[in-house]
Amino acid sequence: MLSDFSGVIQKGTREEALLGAVAWDRLPRHVAIIMDGNGRWAAQRSQPRIAGHRAGVEAVRAAVDTGARLGLTALTLYAFSTENWKRPRYEVDALMRMLRRYIRIELDEIDRQNIKFQTIGRIGALAENVRKEITRATEQTARNKGMILTVALNYGGRAEIVDAARAAVRRLLDEGSRPDEITEERIANELYTRNLPELDLLVRTSGELRISNFLLWQTAYSEIYVTETLWPDFRRVHLLEAVVDYQRRDRRFGGLKLVRSS
Ligand code: IPE
Ligand code: IPE
Ligand code: MG
Repeated sequence: MLSDFSGVIQKGTREEALLGAVAWDRLPRHVAIIMDGNGRWAAQRSQPRIAGHRAGVEAVRAAVDTGARLGLTALTLYAFSTENWKRPRYEVDALMRMLRRYIRIELDEIDRQNIKFQTIGRIGALAENVRKEITRATEQTARNKGMILTVALNYGGRAEIVDAARAAVRRLLDEGSRPDEITEERIANELYTRNLPELDLLVRTSGELRISNFLLWQTAYSEIYVTETLWPDFRRVHLLEAVVDYQRRDRRFGGLKLVRSS
């Protein structure tokens, strides 16, 4: 797909320079983001944590819009982990309310950009009004052929592997096969991300150097990019920086460095 930034990039800006540095034939196909640092952003301004989450919505818009314009095949956003239920009730409620609102407000724009919306995680445990918005967005965009936007909600990497293992064993029992017929490929085909390409680039904001139970299986050979930028401050320029940095890496997948003959 052709990238399209016409009319949205100012001349002489860092964004323009970064766009000029992008190698279009080597774009990451699948980028995932751990959107972290909303609480610290708010604390720096002596505001309640929820103000940080509210400000983070603008960063989500920027990331989705930039991902779609770049022509990524898939963008996956970590919005709520299986561990985030440990937070105070009012914070959890506020996050769910904002998610509903985000979908309601953005759905038509997402659809217009030909983006296919989907979620991963144990969605059945979410409140009915949240599930309703998710279903509406998923159905409205189901036939779109552009970027796949996946929002990870009540998502845990370990829970995903458990769910995949259960599904693989169920299939095995149905077929009357033996346990050693479970392969990496069969597990991968049962993961929530089975319709997505391999994860090329994992971005985490706010400087934390951990995975926090995100895409444990999928990160086996992903490149990891950590920025000190707090999520509410994350904009187009930061995603472009991550992509350009990724393109400087030497991905080896356990093999030897490719030596180009002249
Ligand atoms: C990320 O920001 C948003 C979610 C986890 C839902 P945090 O709320 O974790 O912000 P910090 O890490 O406390 O700054
Ligand atoms: C990871 O951030 C989860 C999401 C971004 C949704 P957390 O803030 O929950 O992770 P920890 O607690 O710092 O590891
Ligand atoms: Mg955090």
